[in-house]
Amino acid sequence: MLERSDLAGNALSALHDEDYDRPYNLQNLNAETLIFTSGRNGRSLDGDWNFCVDLLDTGLRQKWFALAPVASSERTEPWDYDPFDGDTVPVPSCWQMLNERWYFFEGSAWYTRSFSHDLPPEKRLFLRVGAAQYDCKVFLNGQFLGNHYGGSTPFCVELTEAVGSGENWLMLCVNNRRTRDRLPMRNTDWFNYGGVYREVELFETPQTVIRDLFLYLHDDGIHVEATIDGPATEAHLAIPGLGLTATLDLSKGRARTVLQAHPDLWSPESPVLYDVTLSAGGDSVSDKVGFRRIERRGTSILLNGQPIFLRGISVHEDDELQGKLTSEEDIRRRFAHARELGCNFLRLAHYPHHEMAARIADEMGLMLWEEIPVYWAIDFANPATRHDAENQLSELIRRDRNRASVIIWSVGNENPDTDERLDFMKGLADRARAEDPSRLTSAACLINHHDLVIEDRLAAYIDVIGINEYYGWYEENFSDLEAVGANSHPDRPVVISETGADADHIAGPDTGLFSLAYQADYYRRQIEILRKLDYVKGMTPWILYDFRVERRQGIYQRGFNRKGLIAADKKTRKPAFDILAAYYAERAEKP
Ligand code: GCU
Repeated sequence: MLERSDLAGNALSALHDEDYDRPYNLQNLNAETLIFTSGRNGRSLDGDWNFCVDLLDTGLRQKWFALAPVASSERTEPWDYDPFDGDTVPVPSCWQMLNERWYFFEGSAWYTRSFSHDLPPEKRLFLRVGAAQYDCKVFLNGQFLGNHYGGSTPFCVELTEAVGSGENWLMLCVNNRRTRDRLPMRNTDWFNYGGVYREVELFETPQTVIRDLFLYLHDDGIHVEATIDGPATEAHLAIPGLGLTATLDLSKGRARTVLQAHPDLWSPESPVLYDVTLSAGGDSVSDKVGFRRIERRGTSILLNGQPIFLRGISVHEDDELQGKLTSEEDIRRRFAHARELGCNFLRLAHYPHHEMAARIADEMGLMLWEEIPVYWAIDFANPATRHDAENQLSELIRRDRNRASVIIWSVGNENPDTDERLDFMKGLADRARAEDPSRLTSAACLINHHDLVIEDRLAAYIDVIGINEYYGWYEENFSDLEAVGANSHPDRPVVISETGADADHIAGPDTGLFSLAYQADYYRRQIEILRKLDYVKGMTPWILYDFRVERRQGIYQRGFNRKGLIAADKKTRKPAFDILAAYYAERAEKP
């Protein structure tokens, strides 16, 4: 019906234009357009938004975003959908968890809400979306402002020129379709939630806006890097706890300096955080930063110069009722369970988790492995995919690189050892180091099962070799793991980034595959073998909680991966939990 409207140009073009989305895929909202938001007072736009699913992208074809908000009684054309009227959903949320009809929906969905904001002429206004899975196109008052690719990293868009003095209409078109060229691509072992599932905020700033602030401890002191956008020519840094103040000269909006200081070092035993403030041109931000060193020497991992063993567990960001929506309570429960397991370390698989996770880990003294979803058979030969991966990595690192808890950036998981993949992921490891020279790089690699040896060409380009091995589950013989252990002579630390077995505590058999007894025995035998490998400096068994996944519909899985040591109810423990806890208690005494 809207084809009659001049909004869609020629009436039939809306029906016949299969290149309709090209103008809305600029990917111009990216790591370079982020602003630093720690310590700012944002205005929340969370709450009820108008919502509709749009499987065939009718909204982009007919340009719903350009429609004027008038009462339905004043409409002069019949509608396929009226963005200003209809159902609402809470933001943040995952649409799959809100309505049975949307459980397996993959496609576009429209979020619409109004807001008023009287922006003083000397101010700037930014929108920040904590995460929207996967492609998020932003329209304000009918104007397309840009789009962001990547389902787990924040993005910002400047609204200064588009915001009006009265009622403003904001529309987000979010598309979670899995495609061959996206990151992750169309085949993953976790549920493809969709939606605006992290917080949405507005930030008002002066003409000068602090876009980035990064501090890290190195041999020669505390390195400070700041990026400022606007007329200011200097910035002022303060770390009161160290009695430090410094004026940073800005050259082309950037400042770098090294401050002589000997801070109390952050560690799991002593998670010391320092208040840091930075101001420039009337703008100001703050953060709580822990200072520590993480290095590798030979096959050892050193925290503040001391060798450590990473007693870890892998976790997804998943909840049987909320989907990928998390909360401070959910994260603190996850970390408390990890602590009860005896962990000092967690692998936040397979994508950037909510930024609260690293902040809470900073406070609690837990170390983290953070990762971008370069997962399985990525389209490694595709330049657009590589650009997407590089941007998601930069967005993750710039979001979390002031977090002492984060010690490892992982550039992928279980990828085939091809030339294209090697070039792609070596490039990501180099990019991680360029963004942040103060942390270790890794990836979860595969074993050469034919020759029973740890062998992956990427290992030469990362600091820590992650190894996913399932001997005794996917690979039949535990004895083969003994052979791998004996045949492998890595020159750098190895972390067992995954090992585990499913156990269905509800309907599983008493013995054999998918039984609690088998999972417990699996852990006993894995630990018996791994504890003898002195180049193994940590492990993050798969996984703390059972989690939702479409591809597992067996009678013992029923839409969930049941390798959890705790069931998806985040209460019911399985016997294997205590077996791993006993080993970690031992390793805590003798790292
Ligand atoms: C793989 C993969 C995980 C997956 C796990 C499993 O190693 O990295 O994402 O869930 O195996 O099969 O349970």
